[in-house]
Amino acid sequence: MLRHLPHFKDWSAGELLELLEKALYLKEHLADYAGILKGKTMAMIFQKTSTRTRLSFEAGMTRLGGHAVYMDWRATNLVLAEIKDEIRYIAGNADLVMARLLHHKDLLEMIAYATVPVINGCDDRYHPCQAFCDLLTLREKLGRLQGIKLVYVGVWNNVLNSLVDLCHKIGVYLVAIAPIVNEPSWDPELLAAAERSGFFRRAEDLRTEVRDADAVYTDSWVDMEFFLDPAYEAEKKRRLELMLPYQLNAANLAGSRALIMHDMPIHPGYEIDRAMIEDERSIIFPQSWNRMHGQNAIILRLLGLL
Ligand code: CP
Repeated sequence: MLRHLPHFKDWSAGELLELLEKALYLKEHLADYAGILKGKTMAMIFQKTSTRTRLSFEAGMTRLGGHAVYMDWRATNLVLAEIKDEIRYIAGNADLVMARLLHHKDLLEMIAYATVPVINGCDDRYHPCQAFCDLLTLREKLGRLQGIKLVYVGVWNNVLNSLVDLCHKIGVYLVAIAPIVNEPSWDPELLAAAERSGFFRRAEDLRTEVRDADAVYTDSWVDMEFFLDPAYEAEKKRRLELMLPYQLNAANLAGSRALIMHDMPIHPGYEIDRAMIEDERSIIFPQSWNRMHGQNAIILRLLGLL
């Protein structure tokens, strides 16, 4: 059956835990899977900038013996034509599609018309691959997931939604300290389900919450498409002033043994102090390198090969 990945909402805890274990196995035995995608092509459609998502998917396809085609939205006829027509053409040439889009509704349109799996490479509501690979990193570093405490501090955004989606089902206690909400990412149904599970709550005091946390996670306070936008300057300033007390720095993390996470790109001096990036508790780079390994498992699962 054709399965897409707009988010993980329709995945059970058992399916998620099983795929995480398989992702770890795949990482450790990558050479054994070197030819599994021979002859297969992934179309990678980008409406926004990317370093990790582009490279990790492309490198993953290469490692598995397949091929990835990078398609910058602005250099394709997606700028001129309707998504429903372009995606049907693309699906006739590719075995799967990964799209990083501005709006979730456009991803849903691709899914409605594509005849091959479509993976969400981050939109304004969800970033499922990021969160899956983050949990892979925590499973690897801590040896378990169920019962651990993860504190997210930052703006309520697509990444937090996907962490909420996964953590409450798997049994990771997720505490969100998010005084600002990116409106397009707000998902009251997901929030209600997470709150009912008992594995999610909101909080305000970072120093209290990190005392017994296993990991603390931050993200950019300003979405990538707005970071260099002069029209967004006043909102950017407001956010930086309001969020600065929530920065990951030595004072806020004093006495905590929590592993330090960030999905990158990093803005040192804003959401995190440079010293915390380099701190011995930081797992930011292994976290970023796991993007490829977790996504390899997702690709193979969607193609029915894992
Ligand atoms: N974390 C993440 O998705 O990185 P990129 O924006 O560089 O792809």
